[in-house]
Amino acid sequence: MTGGATLRAETPEDHSAIHGLLVAAFERYGEAELVEALRKEGDLVFGGVATVNGVIVGYAALSRMNAPIPALGLGPVAVAATLRQKGVASALLRWSLARAQDDQWRAIFVLGESAFYGRFGFKPELAADFNSPYAGPHFMALALNGALPAKVGPVDYAPAFERL
Ligand SMILES: CC(C)(COP(=O)(O)OP(=O)(O)OC[C@H]1O[C@@H](n2cnc3c(N)ncnc32)[C@H](O)[C@@H]1OP(=O)(O)O)[C@@H](O)C(=O)NCCC(=O)NCCS
Repeated sequence: MTGGATLRAETPEDHSAIHGLLVAAFERYGEAELVEALRKEGDLVFGGVATVNGVIVGYAALSRMNAPIPALGLGPVAVAATLRQKGVASALLRWSLARAQDDQWRAIFVLGESAFYGRFGFKPELAADFNSPYAGPHFMALALNGALPAKVGPVDYAPAFERL
């Protein structure tokens, strides 16, 4: 189920709409500025957008992490308030994670609610094997393309996250 949305990778023409979506969803500028900094610094690997009637209603960013294995950080993730609870984020995340798998990434890390991200396979116990400033119950990992090697930290997000 896609919540009626079309899923695709972002293009430069989308940047302004993504900015607006993130500011509205988080009710602050931080996440929108984070995505712009990730792009500018070459750390945004993949931005997935969900559209309805050509309008961007969902966004998920995957950025390069500093890690001993090829790893991406997931976030920010946002869906327009009027279209929540219809499966848009779930569809966008499943699609984005599949792209990362196809591109041979080995892990995705996320900081968030396990009740939400757990449904996509993210587990705190997988992230716990890595040293990270974000370590804790909200720091989760998903293994792609095979099991993760144990205890191979440290992992950290791209530098732009430090300014969030
Ligand atoms: C989180 C968010 C992206 C979910 O988008 P969505 O399209 O409504 O998500 P879906 O419809 O695919 O899934 C909804 C499910 O996620 C759950 N969920 C949403 N936000 C959650 C949260 N913060 N913690 C736990 N569960 C959450 C809902 O309860 C719902 O559960 P259900 O399927 O059991 O009813 C959206 O609520 C949003 O943009 N929030 C504001 C920005 C934000 O907080 N982003 C997350 C940052 S990590």
